[in-house]
Amino acid sequence: MKNFSELQLQLNEQQSNWVITGVAGFIGSNLLEFLLKHNQKVVGLDNFSTGYQHNLDQVREIVGSQKWANFSFVQGDIRDLDTCQQVCKGADYVLHHAAIGSVPRSIEDPLLSNANNVTGYLNMLVAARDQKVRRFVYAASSSTYGDHPDLPKVESVIGKPLSPYAVTKYVNELYADVFHRCYGLSSIGLRYFNVFGPRQDPNGAYAAVIPIWIAALIRNQELKINGDGSITRDFCYVENVIQANVLAALSTNEHADNQIFNVALSDRTSLLDLYKMIRDVLVNDYPHLQQHQPTFLPFRTGDIPHSQADISKAQTLLAYAPQYKVDQGLQKAINWYKQDLT
Ligand SMILES: NC(=O)c1ccc[n+]([C@@H]2O[C@H](COP(=O)([O-])OP(=O)(O)OC[C@H]3O[C@@H](n4cnc5c(N)ncnc54)[C@H](O)[C@@H]3O)[C@@H](O)[C@H]2O)c1
Repeated sequence: MKNFSELQLQLNEQQSNWVITGVAGFIGSNLLEFLLKHNQKVVGLDNFSTGYQHNLDQVREIVGSQKWANFSFVQGDIRDLDTCQQVCKGADYVLHHAAIGSVPRSIEDPLLSNANNVTGYLNMLVAARDQKVRRFVYAASSSTYGDHPDLPKVESVIGKPLSPYAVTKYVNELYADVFHRCYGLSSIGLRYFNVFGPRQDPNGAYAAVIPIWIAALIRNQELKINGDGSITRDFCYVENVIQANVLAALSTNEHADNQIFNVALSDRTSLLDLYKMIRDVLVNDYPHLQQHQPTFLPFRTGDIPHSQADISKAQTLLAYAPQYKVDQGLQKAINWYKQDLT
Protein backbone atom coordinates (compact mmCIF):
# COMPACT_ATOMS: atom_id res chain seq x y z
CA MET A 1 0.00 0.00 0.00
CA LYS A 2 1.48 3.37 -1.03
CA ASN A 3 1.61 6.23 1.42
CA PHE A 4 0.80 9.85 0.61
CA SER A 5 4.41 10.83 -0.24
CA GLU A 6 4.74 7.92 -2.65
CA LEU A 7 1.42 8.79 -4.28
CA GLN A 8 2.50 12.39 -4.74
CA LEU A 9 5.55 11.20 -6.66
CA GLN A 10 3.32 8.91 -8.70
CA LEU A 11 1.03 11.82 -9.56
CA ASN A 12 3.94 13.98 -10.67
CA GLU A 13 5.01 11.31 -13.13
CA GLN A 14 1.66 10.12 -14.39
CA GLN A 15 -1.18 12.36 -15.51
CA SER A 16 -4.79 11.28 -14.94
CA ASN A 17 -8.17 12.90 -15.55
CA TRP A 18 -10.05 14.07 -12.47
CA VAL A 19 -13.48 15.58 -11.91
CA ILE A 20 -14.07 17.82 -8.89
CA THR A 21 -17.66 18.86 -8.22
CA GLY A 22 -18.05 21.84 -5.92
CA VAL A 23 -14.69 23.03 -7.26
CA ALA A 24 -15.35 26.72 -6.47
CA GLY A 25 -16.05 25.94 -2.83
CA PHE A 26 -13.75 25.62 0.15
CA ILE A 27 -12.63 21.97 -0.02
CA GLY A 28 -13.10 21.69 -3.81
CA SER A 29 -10.78 24.62 -4.55
CA ASN A 30 -8.12 23.20 -2.21
CA LEU A 31 -8.34 19.85 -4.02
CA LEU A 32 -8.01 21.69 -7.34
CA GLU A 33 -4.89 23.52 -6.16
CA PHE A 34 -3.27 20.27 -5.03
CA LEU A 35 -4.06 18.32 -8.21
CA LEU A 36 -2.93 21.10 -10.57
CA LYS A 37 0.31 21.51 -8.62
CA HIS A 38 0.85 17.78 -9.24
CA ASN A 39 0.33 18.07 -13.00
CA GLN A 40 -3.09 16.43 -13.08
CA LYS A 41 -5.87 17.27 -15.55
CA VAL A 42 -9.03 18.47 -13.85
CA VAL A 43 -12.56 19.21 -14.97
CA GLY A 44 -14.39 21.24 -12.32
CA LEU A 45 -18.14 21.68 -11.95
CA ASP A 46 -19.85 24.31 -9.82
CA ASN A 47 -23.03 26.40 -9.93
CA PHE A 48 -21.65 29.10 -7.56
CA SER A 49 -24.49 28.59 -5.10
CA THR A 50 -22.08 28.77 -2.14
CA GLY A 51 -18.76 28.79 -4.04
CA TYR A 52 -16.96 31.76 -5.60
CA GLN A 53 -15.14 32.72 -8.78
CA HIS A 54 -12.50 34.38 -6.59
CA ASN A 55 -11.59 30.95 -5.11
CA LEU A 56 -10.80 29.76 -8.64
CA ASP A 57 -8.93 33.00 -9.42
CA GLN A 58 -6.79 32.47 -6.35
CA VAL A 59 -5.89 28.92 -7.40
CA ARG A 60 -4.94 30.22 -10.86
CA GLU A 61 -2.61 32.77 -9.28
CA ILE A 62 -1.00 30.15 -7.03
CA VAL A 63 -0.40 27.44 -9.66
CA GLY A 64 0.50 29.74 -12.60
CA SER A 65 -0.79 29.77 -16.15
CA GLN A 66 1.01 26.63 -17.37
CA LYS A 67 -0.58 24.34 -14.80
CA TRP A 68 -3.87 26.24 -14.95
CA ALA A 69 -4.11 25.14 -18.60
CA ASN A 70 -4.80 21.61 -17.30
CA PHE A 71 -8.08 22.82 -15.79
CA SER A 72 -11.41 23.27 -17.50
CA PHE A 73 -14.35 24.71 -15.67
CA VAL A 74 -18.02 23.95 -16.32
CA GLN A 75 -20.48 26.31 -14.70
CA GLY A 76 -23.42 24.01 -14.19
CA ASP A 77 -25.55 22.06 -11.80
CA ILE A 78 -25.36 18.49 -10.53
CA ARG A 79 -29.18 18.47 -10.57
CA ASP A 80 -28.86 18.25 -14.37
CA LEU A 81 -27.92 14.71 -15.48
CA ASP A 82 -26.60 15.79 -18.90
CA THR A 83 -24.13 18.15 -17.23
CA CYS A 84 -22.94 15.33 -14.96
CA GLN A 85 -22.50 13.02 -17.96
CA GLN A 86 -20.56 15.72 -19.79
CA VAL A 87 -18.07 16.36 -16.97
CA CYS A 88 -17.50 12.65 -16.29
CA LYS A 89 -16.65 11.84 -19.92
CA GLY A 90 -13.11 10.42 -20.01
CA ALA A 91 -12.63 10.83 -16.26
CA ASP A 92 -10.49 8.44 -14.25
CA TYR A 93 -11.47 9.72 -10.81
CA VAL A 94 -14.36 11.76 -9.43
CA LEU A 95 -14.05 13.73 -6.20
CA HIS A 96 -17.67 14.64 -5.52
CA HIS A 97 -17.94 17.65 -3.19
CA ALA A 98 -20.89 19.68 -4.50
CA ALA A 99 -23.60 19.84 -1.86
CA ILE A 100 -25.59 22.28 0.21
CA GLY A 101 -23.75 22.16 3.53
CA SER A 102 -24.87 23.32 6.97
CA VAL A 103 -27.26 21.57 9.33
CA PRO A 104 -29.34 24.72 10.10
CA ARG A 105 -29.82 25.47 6.40
CA SER A 106 -31.17 21.96 5.82
CA ILE A 107 -33.62 22.40 8.70
CA GLU A 108 -34.86 25.62 7.06
CA ASP A 109 -35.02 24.21 3.56
CA PRO A 110 -35.02 20.39 3.43
CA LEU A 111 -36.22 20.33 -0.19
CA LEU A 112 -33.16 22.29 -1.32
CA SER A 113 -30.85 19.95 0.59
CA ASN A 114 -32.53 16.88 -0.84
CA ALA A 115 -32.48 18.17 -4.43
CA ASN A 116 -28.77 19.00 -4.32
CA ASN A 117 -27.42 16.40 -1.94
CA VAL A 118 -29.53 13.41 -2.93
CA THR A 119 -30.86 13.95 -6.49
CA GLY A 120 -27.69 15.77 -7.57
CA TYR A 121 -25.53 13.13 -5.94
CA LEU A 122 -27.50 10.35 -7.66
CA ASN A 123 -26.97 12.06 -11.03
CA MET A 124 -23.24 12.05 -10.38
CA LEU A 125 -23.29 8.37 -9.46
CA VAL A 126 -25.20 7.52 -12.64
CA ALA A 127 -22.77 9.57 -14.72
CA ALA A 128 -19.75 7.98 -13.03
CA ARG A 129 -21.23 4.55 -13.71
CA ASP A 130 -22.08 5.32 -17.36
CA GLN A 131 -18.69 6.91 -18.07
CA LYS A 132 -16.91 4.02 -16.35
CA VAL A 133 -14.78 6.08 -13.97
CA ARG A 134 -12.21 4.13 -12.00
CA ARG A 135 -13.29 5.42 -8.61
CA PHE A 136 -15.93 7.75 -7.20
CA VAL A 137 -14.80 9.45 -3.98
CA TYR A 138 -17.45 11.51 -2.20
CA ALA A 139 -17.77 13.84 0.77
CA ALA A 140 -19.77 12.10 3.45
CA SER A 141 -20.23 13.63 6.90
CA SER A 142 -19.78 13.03 10.62
CA SER A 143 -23.41 14.20 10.96
CA THR A 144 -24.29 10.60 10.02
CA TYR A 145 -23.40 9.61 13.60
CA GLY A 146 -26.53 11.52 14.65
CA ASP A 147 -27.68 10.83 18.19
CA HIS A 148 -25.31 7.93 18.91
CA PRO A 149 -23.49 8.80 22.15
CA ASP A 150 -20.35 6.63 21.84
CA LEU A 151 -16.93 8.25 21.53
CA PRO A 152 -14.76 7.97 19.55
CA LYS A 153 -17.00 7.46 16.52
CA VAL A 154 -16.41 4.18 14.70
CA GLU A 155 -17.64 3.92 11.10
CA SER A 156 -19.87 0.88 11.70
CA VAL A 157 -21.87 2.34 14.61
CA ILE A 158 -24.24 5.20 13.79
CA GLY A 159 -27.33 6.65 15.45
CA LYS A 160 -30.45 8.32 14.16
CA PRO A 161 -29.90 11.40 11.97
CA LEU A 162 -30.61 14.74 13.67
CA SER A 163 -31.21 16.87 10.57
CA PRO A 164 -32.25 16.67 6.91
CA TYR A 165 -28.59 17.32 6.02
CA ALA A 166 -27.55 14.22 7.98
CA VAL A 167 -30.21 12.17 6.16
CA THR A 168 -28.89 13.31 2.77
CA LYS A 169 -25.33 12.40 3.67
CA TYR A 170 -26.36 8.98 4.95
CA VAL A 171 -28.40 8.37 1.80
CA ASN A 172 -25.22 9.10 -0.19
CA GLU A 173 -23.51 6.21 1.57
CA LEU A 174 -26.45 3.87 0.96
CA TYR A 175 -26.59 4.74 -2.75
CA ALA A 176 -22.84 4.25 -3.17
CA ASP A 177 -23.15 0.81 -1.63
CA VAL A 178 -26.09 -0.11 -3.86
CA PHE A 179 -24.27 1.15 -6.97
CA HIS A 180 -21.43 -1.17 -6.10
CA ARG A 181 -23.77 -4.15 -5.66
CA CYS A 182 -25.95 -3.45 -8.71
CA TYR A 183 -23.45 -1.99 -11.20
CA GLY A 184 -19.97 -2.68 -9.80
CA LEU A 185 -19.17 1.04 -9.36
CA SER A 186 -16.09 1.49 -7.19
CA SER A 187 -16.49 4.21 -4.56
CA ILE A 188 -15.13 5.45 -1.24
CA GLY A 189 -16.99 7.77 1.15
CA LEU A 190 -15.09 10.12 3.45
CA ARG A 191 -16.88 11.20 6.60
CA TYR A 192 -15.41 14.63 7.29
CA PHE A 193 -15.36 16.09 10.79
CA ASN A 194 -15.30 19.93 11.01
CA VAL A 195 -12.85 20.77 8.25
CA PHE A 196 -11.14 24.19 8.25
CA GLY A 197 -8.51 26.05 6.23
CA PRO A 198 -7.92 28.69 3.55
CA ARG A 199 -10.90 29.74 1.41
CA GLN A 200 -13.52 28.56 3.90
CA ASP A 201 -16.18 31.26 3.73
CA PRO A 202 -16.34 33.45 6.88
CA ASN A 203 -19.46 35.29 5.73
CA GLY A 204 -23.17 34.51 5.70
CA ALA A 205 -25.65 32.97 8.10
CA TYR A 206 -24.34 29.43 7.67
CA ALA A 207 -20.59 29.99 7.99
CA ALA A 208 -18.53 27.59 10.13
CA VAL A 209 -17.15 28.48 13.54
CA ILE A 210 -13.42 28.80 12.73
CA PRO A 211 -13.72 31.30 9.85
CA ILE A 212 -16.42 33.26 11.72
CA TRP A 213 -14.20 33.58 14.78
CA ILE A 214 -11.01 34.45 12.89
CA ALA A 215 -12.91 37.16 10.99
CA ALA A 216 -14.55 38.47 14.18
CA LEU A 217 -11.19 38.73 15.97
CA ILE A 218 -9.43 40.39 13.04
CA ARG A 219 -12.32 42.85 12.62
CA ASN A 220 -12.59 43.36 16.41
CA GLN A 221 -16.23 42.31 16.42
CA GLU A 222 -18.27 40.45 19.02
CA LEU A 223 -17.41 36.72 19.14
CA LYS A 224 -20.18 34.40 20.32
CA ILE A 225 -19.67 30.97 21.86
CA ASN A 226 -22.69 28.68 22.01
CA GLY A 227 -22.74 27.26 25.54
CA ASP A 228 -19.99 27.57 28.13
CA GLY A 229 -17.18 26.61 25.73
CA SER A 230 -17.08 22.98 26.84
CA ILE A 231 -18.44 21.56 23.56
CA THR A 232 -15.65 19.63 21.80
CA ARG A 233 -15.08 18.88 18.13
CA ASP A 234 -12.50 16.98 16.07
CA PHE A 235 -11.32 19.89 13.90
CA CYS A 236 -9.40 18.82 10.81
CA TYR A 237 -7.14 20.97 8.64
CA VAL A 238 -8.01 20.82 4.94
CA GLU A 239 -4.62 19.44 3.85
CA ASN A 240 -5.39 16.27 5.83
CA VAL A 241 -8.62 16.05 3.85
CA ILE A 242 -6.71 16.41 0.57
CA GLN A 243 -4.49 13.55 1.63
CA ALA A 244 -7.53 11.38 2.38
CA ASN A 245 -9.01 12.12 -1.06
CA VAL A 246 -5.79 11.21 -2.89
CA LEU A 247 -5.34 8.02 -0.88
CA ALA A 248 -8.98 7.06 -1.45
CA ALA A 249 -8.94 7.73 -5.19
CA LEU A 250 -5.69 5.90 -5.87
CA SER A 251 -5.99 3.08 -3.35
CA THR A 252 -5.36 -0.37 -4.78
CA ASN A 253 -6.27 -2.08 -1.50
CA GLU A 254 -9.37 -4.17 -2.24
CA HIS A 255 -10.39 -3.99 1.44
CA ALA A 256 -10.66 -0.21 1.14
CA ASP A 257 -12.93 -0.32 -1.90
CA ASN A 258 -16.60 0.56 -1.30
CA GLN A 259 -15.90 1.56 2.27
CA ILE A 260 -16.61 4.60 4.41
CA PHE A 261 -13.79 6.28 6.35
CA ASN A 262 -13.67 8.87 9.10
CA VAL A 263 -11.43 11.77 8.14
CA ALA A 264 -10.25 13.80 11.13
CA LEU A 265 -7.43 13.82 13.68
CA SER A 266 -9.00 11.76 16.46
CA ASP A 267 -8.48 14.77 18.68
CA ARG A 268 -10.94 16.76 20.76
CA THR A 269 -10.66 20.53 21.04
CA SER A 270 -13.10 22.45 23.22
CA LEU A 271 -14.59 25.66 21.85
CA LEU A 272 -12.95 27.60 24.64
CA ASP A 273 -9.53 26.17 23.80
CA LEU A 274 -10.16 26.83 20.13
CA TYR A 275 -10.99 30.47 20.91
CA LYS A 276 -7.78 30.84 22.95
CA MET A 277 -5.65 29.20 20.25
CA ILE A 278 -6.96 31.54 17.56
CA ARG A 279 -6.63 34.62 19.78
CA ASP A 280 -3.07 33.67 20.77
CA VAL A 281 -2.00 33.39 17.14
CA LEU A 282 -3.58 36.75 16.25
CA VAL A 283 -2.65 38.81 19.29
CA ASN A 284 0.84 39.77 18.05
CA ASP A 285 -0.61 41.40 14.95
CA TYR A 286 -3.77 42.76 16.59
CA PRO A 287 -2.95 44.18 20.06
CA HIS A 288 -6.65 45.01 20.66
CA LEU A 289 -7.10 41.26 21.27
CA GLN A 290 -5.27 41.42 24.61
CA GLN A 291 -8.51 42.72 26.15
CA HIS A 292 -10.86 40.61 24.05
CA GLN A 293 -13.54 38.53 25.78
CA PRO A 294 -16.04 36.21 24.07
CA THR A 295 -19.80 36.38 24.64
CA PHE A 296 -21.30 33.14 25.94
CA LEU A 297 -24.75 32.24 24.60
CA PRO A 298 -27.11 29.43 25.68
CA PHE A 299 -26.36 25.99 24.18
CA ARG A 300 -27.97 25.63 20.74
CA THR A 301 -30.70 23.01 20.61
CA GLY A 302 -29.63 19.96 18.65
CA ASP A 303 -25.90 20.56 19.13
CA ILE A 304 -24.22 17.34 20.24
CA PRO A 305 -21.85 17.97 23.18
CA HIS A 306 -18.82 16.07 21.87
CA SER A 307 -17.48 14.64 18.66
CA GLN A 308 -14.32 12.66 18.03
CA ALA A 309 -13.39 10.28 15.25
CA ASP A 310 -11.71 6.93 15.46
CA ILE A 311 -9.40 7.13 12.43
CA SER A 312 -7.83 3.69 12.72
CA LYS A 313 -9.77 2.32 9.75
CA ALA A 314 -8.34 4.98 7.42
CA GLN A 315 -4.90 4.55 8.96
CA THR A 316 -4.99 0.80 8.41
CA LEU A 317 -6.68 0.48 5.02
CA LEU A 318 -5.64 3.72 3.31
CA ALA A 319 -2.33 4.56 5.08
CA TYR A 320 -3.94 7.84 6.15
CA ALA A 321 -1.50 9.79 8.35
CA PRO A 322 -2.77 13.33 9.01
CA GLN A 323 0.14 15.76 8.83
CA TYR A 324 -1.42 18.81 10.49
CA LYS A 325 -2.54 19.07 14.12
CA VAL A 326 -5.17 21.68 14.93
CA ASP A 327 -2.68 24.37 16.04
CA GLN A 328 -0.51 23.87 12.93
CA GLY A 329 -3.56 24.08 10.69
CA LEU A 330 -4.84 27.17 12.51
CA GLN A 331 -1.53 28.91 12.00
CA LYS A 332 -1.68 28.28 8.24
CA ALA A 333 -5.36 29.17 7.97
CA ILE A 334 -4.94 32.38 9.97
CA ASN A 335 -2.02 33.49 7.77
CA TRP A 336 -4.36 33.17 4.82
CA TYR A 337 -7.25 35.05 6.48
CA LYS A 338 -4.90 37.85 7.55
CA GLN A 339 -4.14 38.50 3.88
CA ASP A 340 -7.61 37.83 2.53
CA LEU A 341 -9.60 39.84 5.07
CA THR A 342 -7.37 42.88 5.35
N1 LIG B 1 -16.52 21.78 5.60
C1 LIG B 1 -16.80 20.78 6.44
O1 LIG B 1 -16.45 20.82 7.63
C2 LIG B 1 -17.52 19.57 5.95
C3 LIG B 1 -17.85 18.55 6.87
C4 LIG B 1 -18.52 17.42 6.41
C5 LIG B 1 -18.84 17.30 5.07
N2 LIG B 1 -18.55 18.31 4.21
C6 LIG B 1 -18.93 18.16 2.80
O2 LIG B 1 -17.83 18.48 1.97
C7 LIG B 1 -18.29 19.03 0.73
C8 LIG B 1 -17.62 20.36 0.48
O3 LIG B 1 -17.93 21.24 1.54
P1 LIG B 1 -17.32 22.72 1.67
O4 LIG B 1 -17.14 22.97 3.10
O5 LIG B 1 -16.21 22.89 0.72
O6 LIG B 1 -18.58 23.59 1.21
P2 LIG B 1 -18.70 24.77 0.13
O7 LIG B 1 -20.09 25.30 0.30
O8 LIG B 1 -17.56 25.72 0.27
O9 LIG B 1 -18.56 23.98 -1.24
C9 LIG B 1 -19.62 23.36 -1.89
C10 LIG B 1 -19.55 23.75 -3.34
O10 LIG B 1 -20.56 23.01 -4.07
C11 LIG B 1 -21.17 23.90 -4.98
N3 LIG B 1 -22.52 23.39 -5.25
C12 LIG B 1 -23.55 23.26 -4.37
N4 LIG B 1 -24.63 22.77 -4.99
C13 LIG B 1 -24.28 22.56 -6.29
C14 LIG B 1 -24.97 22.07 -7.42
N5 LIG B 1 -26.25 21.73 -7.34
N6 LIG B 1 -24.31 21.98 -8.58
C15 LIG B 1 -23.01 22.35 -8.68
N7 LIG B 1 -22.30 22.85 -7.64
C16 LIG B 1 -22.94 22.95 -6.46
C17 LIG B 1 -21.18 25.24 -4.27
O11 LIG B 1 -21.36 26.35 -5.13
C18 LIG B 1 -19.82 25.23 -3.59
O12 LIG B 1 -18.82 25.76 -4.42
C19 LIG B 1 -19.81 19.10 0.86
O13 LIG B 1 -20.35 17.94 0.28
C20 LIG B 1 -20.05 19.09 2.35
O14 LIG B 1 -21.33 18.58 2.68
C21 LIG B 1 -17.90 19.43 4.61
